[in-house]
Parts: sequence; structure tokens; C-alpha cells
Amino acid sequence: MNSLLLQNKFTALPMNILMVCLGNICRSPMAEGIMNQKIRLNQLSWRVDSAGTGGWHVGETPDERAVKVMKKNGIDISQYVARQFSADDFIHFDKIYVMDSTNYLDVIRQCPHAEYKKKIDLILNITHPGMNQAVPDPYYGEMNGFDYVFRLLNEACQRIIDLHG
Ligand code: 4NP
Repeated sequence: MNSLLLQNKFTALPMNILMVCLGNICRSPMAEGIMNQKIRLNQLSWRVDSAGTGGWHVGETPDERAVKVMKKNGIDISQYVARQFSADDFIHFDKIYVMDSTNYLDVIRQCPHAEYKKKIDLILNITHPGMNQAVPDPYYGEMNGFDYVFRLLNEACQRIIDLHG
């Protein structure tokens, strides 16, 4: 038995993570599903949720292309329901990972307290520190854009687990 693994499992602090994109039907529900699976596999007592800065798709299930690529990778997000980001999320979540700089500006604009600003980061700064790279919006593109988003998010979520789990 790997004692380091055991130690991690029982000493990891609970963490509440919010994944944020524009519509909450493509990138952020994919990030939520990926992270949920890793939380389960690593038996962590973390919680993950997702939201969109825009309200156009509130109440909808994810884009069928996102559902498809996730299913191909063994994760079911077909029952997730889109919701809109709110300023209250700063209270309920420890980390708010956004997909691109527009999401970042939309979220920080709603920040009720300067202290909370450090909760927000671009998710790809986990794998590419300080580079402020975007997870490209796959909504208007082809299926291969969703595969690419899956690879980026899977790598970033695994790194979050490796660093904090
Ligand atoms: P998401 O993708 O932000 O990754 O969920 C989008 C979904 C919908 C729209 C834009 C982006 N839209 O314009 O409706």
C-alpha cells in the first residue's frame, strides 16, 4: 500500500470548486463531470459545480456534442442542468475556475469583496502557469473541438487533484 496515497486521502482538505464558462452547456459542465469522476476515484470529500456567466441556456441539459464526448470517455453529464453564475457563488466556493478571459472579467465584475478575487483563476493556469490561456469555446465549431476541450480539461483537473488532493 502506498503510504503517501493513504496520507493524502485522509489529510486532504475539503474543497468546493466552481467551473464557469459562458453558456454552462459545453466547457464548464464538461469540467464539472471530469472533476466529479476524479473526486470519486480519489475518494476526496470535495464538491464541484458549474455555472455560466450568461443566462440563455438556464434550465437546459448540456450540448449533445459535450454529452457525446464525455460519454466516449466514460462520464455521463446528460442530466446536468445549466444555471447562471451569481455573486453568492463567491461565498459558497473556495475556487472559481473560468475558461477564458471574458468569463474572468464577467466573474470579477460581480465580486462583492476584494478578498474573494483570489478565488478566481483561468483553469489553464493550472497546467500553463501565468500564461492566461483560454479553453477555446467549441460551441460554433466541430466535434473535434469538443475532443480538444476534453483533453485540456482532463489534464487541468488531474493537475488540480495532484496538487491539492
Ligand atoms: P460554453 O459554450 O460557454 O462552453 O457553454 C457556449 C454555449 C452557448 C453559447 C456560447 C458558448 N451561446 O452563445 O449560446
